[in-house]
Amino acid sequence: MITLDYTNTCLKEDVASYQPLVDKIHQKLMNKTCLGNDFTGWVDWPVDYDKEEFARIKEVAQEIRERADVLVVCGIGGSYLGARSAIEMMKGLYPDDKPEIIFSGNTVSSTYLAQTLKHLEGKSVYVNVISKSGTTTETAVAFRLYEKYLEERYGKQEAARRIIATTDKARGTLKNLADKKGYRTFVIPDDIGGRFSVFTAVGLLPIAAAGLDIDKLMAGCAKAREDYQTSDLEANAAYKYAVLRRILEKQGKNVEFFVCYDPAITMVAEWWKQLFGESEGKEGKGILPASVTFTTDLHSMGQFIQEGTKNFFETTLMIDKPQEDLIFPEDADNLDNMNYLAGKSIDWVNKMAFKGTVDAHFNTGGNDNIILHLDDNSEFSYGYMIYFFFRACALTVLMLDVNPFNQPGVEVYKKNMFKLLGKI
Ligand code: PA5
Repeated sequence: MITLDYTNTCLKEDVASYQPLVDKIHQKLMNKTCLGNDFTGWVDWPVDYDKEEFARIKEVAQEIRERADVLVVCGIGGSYLGARSAIEMMKGLYPDDKPEIIFSGNTVSSTYLAQTLKHLEGKSVYVNVISKSGTTTETAVAFRLYEKYLEERYGKQEAARRIIATTDKARGTLKNLADKKGYRTFVIPDDIGGRFSVFTAVGLLPIAAAGLDIDKLMAGCAKAREDYQTSDLEANAAYKYAVLRRILEKQGKNVEFFVCYDPAITMVAEWWKQLFGESEGKEGKGILPASVTFTTDLHSMGQFIQEGTKNFFETTLMIDKPQEDLIFPEDADNLDNMNYLAGKSIDWVNKMAFKGTVDAHFNTGGNDNIILHLDDNSEFSYGYMIYFFFRACALTVLMLDVNPFNQPGVEVYKKNMFKLLGKI
């Protein structure tokens, strides 16, 4: 489902020489003795997930689809990026069915919050508030605004029907609030951290509410789990990608550009940046994750990537089969001189842009380029892809002797902000 092509890289080490280290780390990940082992619940989640809760997610999603014009998903970081990346990848940027899904609770921009509240006027609104800790400021600030809005508009009882909380199963401010107010709740498992949680209720409720098939998504995750049970680098593309990153880093490439060729994948890049950035950037170590969408950004970042400082490599996610395609029309007058493309498909043009770019960046620019081919934009492929990146991320970070599953650095700004806000 994902094929890895690294023919456009120039490696000074042999991938196979990492096999003994990979075997050792794989064992520790599998038997839950690696660093951060308390947060490895995602490894078997594609088969171990709570089936009863999964059925309830589908029921509530159906209710939202029947009753809501807008679903406001209120969460930040791992509590929103996955759902947004999935919905945009599978439904595109301009879906025309209901409900519209709005992502909020990920900013304290007063303008954004005021504008989203205005946007809700006259529409039937549901809110899914998502926070594992239940105390994240951005989410809590936005949620109180939406909660008040719903209570004033619908009354407390109907508002309670329209608010669904996804949070810890037993603890935390949000769980407490939800129980007291009678909101329906879904659980974020204790042993799955935010950025590894898109295939739990965190992502599944919004994704199902968007009308996508979460059975197929979980089937994709399960297939990837099965495919990546082995530590053999020849058979496990996720581990091979993890090792390639470390080899390239040793060659002075400490920035990685995630490249895609479809604007609908831009949020996948944002999700990927969080996954790798928050998991790896610790103890003065790590590859800086960056992203570009081509061909759009070839007209902005393209110059730098071709000829600027050579401290990066590229990882291209290429979707082999587009969701939709168009045939370029013939024009009798040909005033734009574009008839040379008449009869060709637009996806073929995009694929030629990809080929030409890889050639320019590797053969002329000397940039290493790892290419990941994904079959299509389907639910199954999305599920397969996220699990591929989970496994790759865990291995590549553990290779640095770093805990991939915590984020101690995020606390520093929070402490400062709380002090300034008068919380502590
Ligand atoms: O990956 C993570 O754990 C973080 O990005 C969290 O998801 C993010 O900080 C939001 O946390 P919470 O769900 O507790 O509100």
